[in-house]
Amino acid sequence: MTGTFDITINKIAKSRVAEYDVNNVPFGKCFSDHMFIAEYADGKWQKAHITPYGDTPLSYAMSALHYGQAIFEGMKAYKNDKGEVSLFRPIENFSRLNKSAIRMAMPEVPEEIFMGGLLELLRLDSAWVPSSDSGSLYIRPFIIATDEAIGVKASETYKFIIITCPAGKYYSEPIKVLVETNYFRAVHGGVGFVKAAGNYGRSLYPTKLAQQKGYQQVIWTDSETHQYVEESGTMNLMFVIGDTVLTPALSDTILSGITRDSVLTLAKDWGMKVEERKISIREVLTAHGNGTLKEAFGCGTAATIAQIIGIGFEGKDYDLPPVEERKFSTKVDEVLRSIRKGKVEDKFNWMMKI
Ligand SMILES: Cc1ncc(COP(=O)(O)O)c(C=O)c1O
Repeated sequence: MTGTFDITINKIAKSRVAEYDVNNVPFGKCFSDHMFIAEYADGKWQKAHITPYGDTPLSYAMSALHYGQAIFEGMKAYKNDKGEVSLFRPIENFSRLNKSAIRMAMPEVPEEIFMGGLLELLRLDSAWVPSSDSGSLYIRPFIIATDEAIGVKASETYKFIIITCPAGKYYSEPIKVLVETNYFRAVHGGVGFVKAAGNYGRSLYPTKLAQQKGYQQVIWTDSETHQYVEESGTMNLMFVIGDTVLTPALSDTILSGITRDSVLTLAKDWGMKVEERKISIREVLTAHGNGTLKEAFGCGTAATIAQIIGIGFEGKDYDLPPVEERKFSTKVDEVLRSIRKGKVEDKFNWMMKI
């Protein structure tokens, strides 16, 4: 038992970490030794435990599988040169998980359970955090509805689980994106602003169609007019036009990305003009035509920055400036990496040591 909320710890008999080169594992397929599980029943969070990572028996009738009451987060821990492990802005993920929970009629997780469980888990599994320059430990906290019951209603039981997996050298190839004007990702009044599992399931078919046409991702547009850009795949979208950093304003159809906020904070700190507003695809292509579109990229926890080098729209492809010329996003990428690896001052207090 440990912390303010009791966590029962059942340690693995022998760590599996020596079986892997954590700096060189395929992403998302190799899981660390332990996982954290808290259980909700009778109107409150009850038992919390850390156990060796592995499968848990769950009912095929459970609500999460049938009615999509499932939400998640994605965050990372980093190891500095001294071997110390820190989390990047974990409280933001905690708050966003609870925002998702409210929207999906699920119970919020108290901070002491989220942070207590996370820190304890990371202390046990710190050997799994890659030390390479671009390496990190990817952390997946999630909540699932576990009632064994067919029938559409909010579940009465839930599990809050955290699993982690090393992300070795993460390098995101520049991507070509297709502006999607048929399908949409989110609608006003819907769940686009939260990390509900169904948002991702519904995105797969349009993405598959775009990939068949030679694009890696789609740019989602608004569901009403398909004229305004919203997000790119599972990333927030940014442009540099002239000397202004532009990004779609947050709304209930856009996920409030923590990387997005970090990029905007850095841009403002560096004295750049920042605009958060509606951006039409026509505006982007006009800027491309007159040579003022300097950069386009997606940003998110997985890749930090994914450079967009081509945009497909209405049957035409537009080639964007070469990545080597993109001063802003290149600097953002480097500075964020340095902050996370403890190589420069953490001016905004983004890092939390475990
Ligand atoms: C739909 C969507 N947009 C944007 C993001 C980027 O958010 P963050 O920077 O917090 O990872 C994510 C990833 O979580 C996402 O799933």
